[in-house]
Amino acid sequence: MKHLRETIEDDFMARESRKIAVIGAGNVGATCAFVMAERKLGEIVLLDIYEGFAKGKALDMSQGGQVLNYDGKITGTSKYEDISGADVVVVTSGFPRQPGMSREDLIGKNAEIISQVGAGIRDYAPDSVVIMVTNPLDLMTYHMQKVTGFDPKKVIGQAGILDSARMTHFVAQAVGCSNEDVQAMVLGGHGDTMVPLPRYTTVGGIPITQLLKSDEIDAISKRTASGGGEIVKLLERGSAFYAPGSAAAIMAESVLNDRKRMLPCSTLLTGQYGLEDVYIGVPVLLGKDGVENIVELELEDDELNSLQSSANFYKSQLSDILGY
Ligand code: NAI
Ligand code: 2OP
Repeated sequence: MKHLRETIEDDFMARESRKIAVIGAGNVGATCAFVMAERKLGEIVLLDIYEGFAKGKALDMSQGGQVLNYDGKITGTSKYEDISGADVVVVTSGFPRQPGMSREDLIGKNAEIISQVGAGIRDYAPDSVVIMVTNPLDLMTYHMQKVTGFDPKKVIGQAGILDSARMTHFVAQAVGCSNEDVQAMVLGGHGDTMVPLPRYTTVGGIPITQLLKSDEIDAISKRTASGGGEIVKLLERGSAFYAPGSAAAIMAESVLNDRKRMLPCSTLLTGQYGLEDVYIGVPVLLGKDGVENIVELELEDDELNSLQSSANFYKSQLSDILGY
């Protein structure tokens, strides 16, 4: 039998040998890296076109290790060879929204960035699982899968965890309970067409339809769908990053630790929910191989129609704007 110290050492070595690259050392990328460092997920490489920006953030985070009790290597770079062998790559490079902009207004500029970043990942981290954050999320995730040519199960978009967390917070406020006891479910694209599902949203296992009035639920669903815009308006410069960066880190953790968490993520549908050849948010099982299962919820007609309209909106943008 293994001595406890050996088990701890093995665990430490396993975590040390894992490599996570974060592309884009801006607000979301740095927050994600910080959460992953605190969770001791492995070696972290921050890559940005501005090398000093990435190096400076990496050094700052490394120095925080003493304060918050984490070790491990955190480095900054602008060179793709430094992400060689990464197990997980989180992509946050790209322009954020400014007040008055929709996520879709970012398509052209961010698609160019994703083409360049995708080529770097394909060439230097060919075995990685890619977690996309750059907006417009569902379109950029589709584009990344095409650029890398990776198995679609290994290219996944972060949106649903954030959108569900926003709904969770609004429900907790309305009920007057802890965030921890709320489980919310938001499907669809990461934009105005997202689909909050009150029937699948519970507090301590009780559906919110039994706890809140229908006008309260409608107001929560509406505020959830415009949750990103509400923050953009308040910040006046850029968009949200604490909750988005943390959400991407949780996806990375589920992959790296093979936790098989069931989370709403943007994934390529191949017939599920009557949809195909489109990335859209649905519940998936996330493990070491990426998306290990796509869960098909039983939806009522209006819920399924909303999900399909959301997906069809992005499908038309894929063909009309990105030429797919
Ligand atoms: P930011 O402006 O703070 O950071 C973006 C970083 O990307 C900058 O440091 C920039 O230098 C870097 N970058 C630009 N082009 C690059 C390239 N070719 N290679 C490497 N790095 C490059 O923006 P922020 O707030 O971090 O947002 C990043 C992206 O994430 C935006 O597109 C934003 O809309 C999106 N986002 C998505 C969310 C989601 O839930 N999916 C939530 C929040 C933001
Ligand atoms: C958000 O939802 C802008 O997508 C970003 O905060």
